[in-house]
Amino acid sequence: MSEKSKINRRQFIQRSALGSAAMGMALGEGHGEAPEVPARVPASDKVTVGMIGVGARAQELMQAIMTLPGTEIVGVCDAYKGRTDRAVARTKGRAKVYKDYKEILADKSIDTVVIATPDHWHATIAIDAVRAGKDVYIEKPMTYAVEEGNNIIAEVKKTGRILQVGSQGMSSRTQQKAREIIASGKLGQVTMVRAFYNRNTASGAWIYPIPPDASPQTVNWEMFLGPAPKRSVDYARFFRWRCYRDYSGGIATDLFVHLVTSIHFMMNAKMPANFVAMGQLYRWKESRDVPDTVNAILEYPEGFTANLSSTFNNQLSSEGGFQILGTKGSLVLGNGLSFHPEIVSEDNRWIVESWPETLEEAYYKDPKVRSEELPNTREPEVLAGEEEFREIGFDATILHFRNFFSCVKTRKQPLQDALAGHRNAACAHLINQSIRERRMVSWDVGKETAKA
Ligand SMILES: NC(=O)c1ccc[n+]([C@@H]2O[C@H](COP(=O)([O-])OP(=O)(O)OC[C@H]3O[C@@H](n4cnc5c(N)ncnc54)[C@H](O)[C@@H]3O)[C@@H](O)[C@H]2O)c1
Repeated sequence: MSEKSKINRRQFIQRSALGSAAMGMALGEGHGEAPEVPARVPASDKVTVGMIGVGARAQELMQAIMTLPGTEIVGVCDAYKGRTDRAVARTKGRAKVYKDYKEILADKSIDTVVIATPDHWHATIAIDAVRAGKDVYIEKPMTYAVEEGNNIIAEVKKTGRILQVGSQGMSSRTQQKAREIIASGKLGQVTMVRAFYNRNTASGAWIYPIPPDASPQTVNWEMFLGPAPKRSVDYARFFRWRCYRDYSGGIATDLFVHLVTSIHFMMNAKMPANFVAMGQLYRWKESRDVPDTVNAILEYPEGFTANLSSTFNNQLSSEGGFQILGTKGSLVLGNGLSFHPEIVSEDNRWIVESWPETLEEAYYKDPKVRSEELPNTREPEVLAGEEEFREIGFDATILHFRNFFSCVKTRKQPLQDALAGHRNAACAHLINQSIRERRMVSWDVGKETAKA
């Protein structure tokens, strides 16, 4: 991803994402499925962190963690040596390199782990981690396949561990503000949400540069493959795994998961009932087997639909954003948040002017019609216009981690627990199912999985 689009992505995710950790707890976010168990870390003690996967995102996560007092990154592991070298350097040589994630899990001095591997590893490592007694911060999407979600929820519950999913947008004060505005009724009836991610660069389309020192000495191919289908070494797959179905769900799991997580938070919605989507591979054909263009419609039982779209062919509008459309006003989230009132007036002239003239005259004599349809006949008033909001202060990733580490000590449920992580990732999986099967697919609320 280019620096420019990286900044755009950061600004979008960090500055426009949903409400604060503290607010979320107050609003009853988290689903409380884990039993209260004593903290393994006394409130006064430092929380130790093991990083599982220290690729591009994890290096950002490390920088966020290192701003938080009372935490220390003590261990790292990765399938590419260049990344562990960089991670150790970031900690000024303090973190130790472990051979693999199982070694990190076996170390009793490590309290928490951050899982930032490619998606096809997420469920296996998360389940092993909570079984090993670790609290877990896991990058989005929580799962690679829908059926993994309920297994993770069950293990988190059984072990009483804390698990926070890392779609950090919902920890931003901007998305918290949006949630408050929507809950206040200021938008009137909201029946449509539009959300999008548009890019027009190779890096935006995940064609990242491959480090020139990639070789059998620096890259552990088998460690990367793990539960994925066996195949011979391919550095494009290793470093651009989002482009391949064996490791990723493409646009839906990489980008739409952020969008639905934020929509669920801002709209106080749980899960769509129905999904219809189309996905095409139009442009980046040589580099992938996932679509580069996706349109999805999600129907929510809360009484609205969401249109999600992404193209890697054009970035006319900012890289990502939301429009939340209500009868009294709209919220637009992109680089910031703005409220746009709906200032509307009725106008039936073109209909009434086709009636017999006497009927038209009679119609406009009605005082109610005059005040509603002929603005020039009423007393002027000044209506409230647009409002702009800008966020300053800690970015959303720091706030999201702050929530996680506070829950590690208090054993309260984090903002984005395993159930929320399952539903948000499942939205992506059902979108991909709809694309593959070219039909509408539905969510089974009772079973928390796709309807057969
Ligand atoms: N929240 C966000 O805004 C955000 C942004 C980017 C990425 N992500 C998520 O973070 C995760 C990582 O993405 P990335 O962009 O950092 O990818 P990446 O390829 O840069 O990093 C993944 C790292 O995991 C390593 N790895 C592979 N198998 C491993 C294993 N078995 N054990 C340990 N390490 C292993 C790889 O060598 C690689 O360095 C993904 O799940 C992605 O969706 C989230």
